[in-house]
Amino acid sequence: MTEKKYILAIDQGTTSSRAIVFDHAGQIVATGQKEHEQIFPRAGWVEHDAMEIWQNVREVIGQALSVAQINRHQLAGVGITNQRETTVVWDRETGKPIYNAIVWQDTRTQKIIDALGAKEDPDKYKSICGLPLATYFAGPKVTWILDNVEGARERAEAGKLMMGTMDTWVLWNLTGGLQGNGVHVTDVTNASRTMLMNIRTMEWDADICADMRIPMSMLPEIKSSSEVYGNGHPNSLLIDTPIAGILGDQQAATFGQACFEKGMVKNTYGTGCFVLMNTGEEAVESKNGLLTTMCYKIGDQKPVYALEGSIAVAGSLVQWLRDNLRMFDAAPDIEQLAKQVKDNGGAYIVPAFSGLFAPHWRPDARGALVGLTRYVNRYHIARAVLEATAFQTREVIAAMNADSGVDLAELRVDGGMTANETLMQFQADQLGADVVRPGVTETTALGAAYAAGIAVGFWKGEEDVIANWAEDKRWSPSMEQNERERLFRNWNKAVQRTLDWVD
Ligand code: G3P
Repeated sequence: MTEKKYILAIDQGTTSSRAIVFDHAGQIVATGQKEHEQIFPRAGWVEHDAMEIWQNVREVIGQALSVAQINRHQLAGVGITNQRETTVVWDRETGKPIYNAIVWQDTRTQKIIDALGAKEDPDKYKSICGLPLATYFAGPKVTWILDNVEGARERAEAGKLMMGTMDTWVLWNLTGGLQGNGVHVTDVTNASRTMLMNIRTMEWDADICADMRIPMSMLPEIKSSSEVYGNGHPNSLLIDTPIAGILGDQQAATFGQACFEKGMVKNTYGTGCFVLMNTGEEAVESKNGLLTTMCYKIGDQKPVYALEGSIAVAGSLVQWLRDNLRMFDAAPDIEQLAKQVKDNGGAYIVPAFSGLFAPHWRPDARGALVGLTRYVNRYHIARAVLEATAFQTREVIAAMNADSGVDLAELRVDGGMTANETLMQFQADQLGADVVRPGVTETTALGAAYAAGIAVGFWKGEEDVIANWAEDKRWSPSMEQNERERLFRNWNKAVQRTLDWVD
């Protein structure tokens, strides 16, 4: 009897690393998960210890395999998905990072961005890389490390340093790192978040690299999202298993949500919130504050593009309420509080903790809680926190409608916050469109599993992903039009209050 086969997905996220084993039906068999430390050395700075992350990845792979009670021979392939833009630079000779990974939320590169001309023309590189000049992206984080770590620039120029987003770091280590001549590769979706890749040719852009003073010898090779990059090395628990899929986490969720047709849209409610619309083979340039990004590329097939609305703060606002204000013990408790009141009592919270991302791109914005009266209580604030996520999503969907000229048909949703029924109903009310949650909400890991499984022939292609996707729950709009618009008008006023904050 032949042994049953599975696919393993590694999801290296902002707050934790996970390994999930999937079966051929796309169902979860086992999960391993471990959180890593969030390092905040100064206001606006966010770092991760890349060595801790690599240790955690190894550990969660072990956990998942042992819970699933399978051995590595039963894995047909491994897919990697990751928090995007978070950047690490390491030494080719020691295999050790020369500085902590700088996280996507970190705003320390503002001066570098300004020096590149962000104030005069934030869209200077947009026609090439699809992105505005902003602290969010990976390239300037490399510049900062080379400028600030002693001796780094000389070593980089001598070809002694490597850079990578977290997919690259995990892949290099899984394939053996120093011991095994690790594979130094990224995929098109992660490369499209660096500002360094030409989005049409899918090659590194020498001029932007020169402007950002990044030696091109540091950069990984850019490959498709679904092909065999290398095999697991013995010290990674995945001896000889093909590593065959890489997608940035939001692109992976789009793939796992089977958004394969032009115009299909998904939103993932995680630390932040990321709305992606498949735009097919066309890289649509946004006129309304969205990013043009790679959606996926399967092997030799033509690339697929997306428009993205990136919202920096969603679930992390709930965590902030839990950790910094100690309003409740566990994040899901927020719904019980919010349900005690029928509305926000006039309070609006704009969580501009890392400035505002799409569609505003205002690094100078800082968070605000407005509309307060003596009437407002903790239940209203809990509600305002949930509503902030829905309002931000509406802003980026409005930008998408304007860019594409097509009204949203329905929104496919996933991520932890989709368990929150109050939020999902309010989201449908604000969008005036249906919100649909699939049976498997771990679509990020699932998407990476599919990319790997397609590369090794475990799944045939997109048709298998579509066949496995199943609707679990649908929320339809039920709010009066006037009320819907009144709330959104107030939200927009609140957003205006957060701009031009000067410390
Ligand atoms: O662009 C940042 C994004 O990839 C992070 O996703 O789910 O780790 O918050 P998440």
